[in-house]
Order: sequence, then C-alpha cells, then structure tokens
Amino acid sequence: MKKMITLLLITSALLTACGSSSDSGSNSKPAQTAKQVGVTKSADASSAEQTSDSIAESSQAEQTESGSDSKILVAYFTPAENGELDAVTSASKVNFWGEDMGNAEAIANVIAAYTGGDLFSLQTVKDYPVDYDDLVNDAKAEQEAGTLPELATAVDISGYDTVFMVYPVWWYTMPQPIYTFLNDYDFSGKNIIPVTTHEGSGMADSVSKLSELEPDASVGEGYSVAGGDVAGCQEDIESWLKDEGF
Ligand SMILES: Cc1cc2nc3c(=O)[nH]c(=O)nc-3n(C[C@H](O)[C@H](O)[C@H](O)COP(=O)(O)O)c2cc1C
Repeated sequence: MKKMITLLLITSALLTACGSSSDSGSNSKPAQTAKQVGVTKSADASSAEQTSDSIAESSQAEQTESGSDSKILVAYFTPAENGELDAVTSASKVNFWGEDMGNAEAIANVIAAYTGGDLFSLQTVKDYPVDYDDLVNDAKAEQEAGTLPELATAVDISGYDTVFMVYPVWWYTMPQPIYTFLNDYDFSGKNIIPVTTHEGSGMADSVSKLSELEPDASVGEGYSVAGGDVAGCQEDIESWLKDEGF
C-alpha cells in the first residue's frame, strides 16, 4: 500500500494541482471565521452532550445542534480530528491559518468562511490509527467489510439546503465515515457538493456514489485539491465558489 500511495504522490505532482487551476494563491484568515455546529453524543447515546474541543470553545449560544440561520452546512471528515493530531503523519496535516490541521479541515474552513456556512466535524466513536501504514490498512479493512463506523458527533441537517462534504479520498472512494453520514441522515431535496483532497485520484467515485446513494438529492460536480496543494489553495477554492454562485 505504501508503494501505491508513493505512486499516487508522484502522479499527483504531475497532475494539475488545485481543481482546474494550478495557480497557488496565498492564504489569509478572514476576520470572521465559520461557526462549528453539532454536538458530541454522550457515551450512552441517550442524550447529546457538548464535549468536543471545537464546541467547547464556542459560545453557549453556538452549542446547539442546528445553531444557525445559515442554509449551508460544510461537513468534513479528516483523520487528524479522529486520532491524535500531534502524532498524525505530516502527509495528512497542514499548517493553515496558523494552526495544524488535516487537509480536509483546511479546505472546509475556507469553504465555510467564504460561503458563511456552518462547519460540522464528522467524528467517529473509534479513533483512527495515527501511523500512516496502520491507517491505510485499517481503512482498507473497513472498506472491504463495508463497516459503517459509528459517528460520535451529530448535527440537525433539516434546516440546511446545501451540504458541502469535504473528505480525503481513501482507497479510491469516500472514507467509510462519510458512508455512515449518508446512511444516518436524510439528504432528500438537498444540494450535496463533494469536495475531496487526494494524492492523484481527484474526485474518485464521489459523484457517482453520492448520486447512487442519495437519489433524492442533487449532487454537484464538486471540486478536488491535491494534498500537497492545500496550503496554497485558498484563492482557487474561493474562485471556484464564486463561479458556482456562492
Ligand atoms: C487510508 C488512506 C487511503 C488513501 N487512498 C488514496 C487514494 O485512493 N487515492 C488518492 O489519491 N489518495 C489517497 N490517499 C491520500 C489522501 O487522500 C490525501 O493525502 C489527503 O490529502 C489527506 O487528507 P487529510 O489530511 O484530511 O487526511 C489515502 C490516504 C489514506 C490515509
């Protein structure tokens, strides 16, 4: 698997870097960043409990399941928020707006800040391995078994019209927690826009899988950012969002 990922890394260096443009822009943290919504489910799952760091840092008013007037939800999954960030391999971590975070989280932050959407971090009950090889093996095993890892965070999506789903490509498809998200929630009538980060696979099977699994939603073409280009992709992402009418 390491060989495969190395090959993907080389391939990605040869590919157009960031969406349809290879220009590398500079990042600038907006004065107003996005709000985190969602709650961490309590251990007995009988009631919602707000215990995640991001939620704990938010004001009391923000600690609600829906929590906002925004019609846009930016839901993201990144292993850096599902394990021990400090131990996460640098391939899956970027210093963005002055903080270390996963690639998918950085992209989600840009989308949420630009669109005024709410951020929701999809976190799993299980911790993913921080060692890269262990992670790729774990992800492969989950995928082969069709495991839907239980989500530890929850959000009320009823008020949102548009849901951006931001995640790394894992083994040529979406990470299993995204499949859980699709399984657990009703996306009928919503506009789903997939956004991936990857090392060569681009959108992978995102659009076809989402369309198959959510026939009553409208699925956009989406956008992809190569992992090595996340650090400089803010302008390109904003330009794409502008073109999409956001
Ligand atoms: C388990 C695993 C499987 C991966 N499979 C692929 C793949 O099939 N295609 C690809 O282009 N990149 C693949 N990658 C690379 C990640 O998609 C890429 O490094 C991404 O930028 C990581 O984002 P993150 O920091 O949010 O985890 C894989 C990475 C991991 C950890």
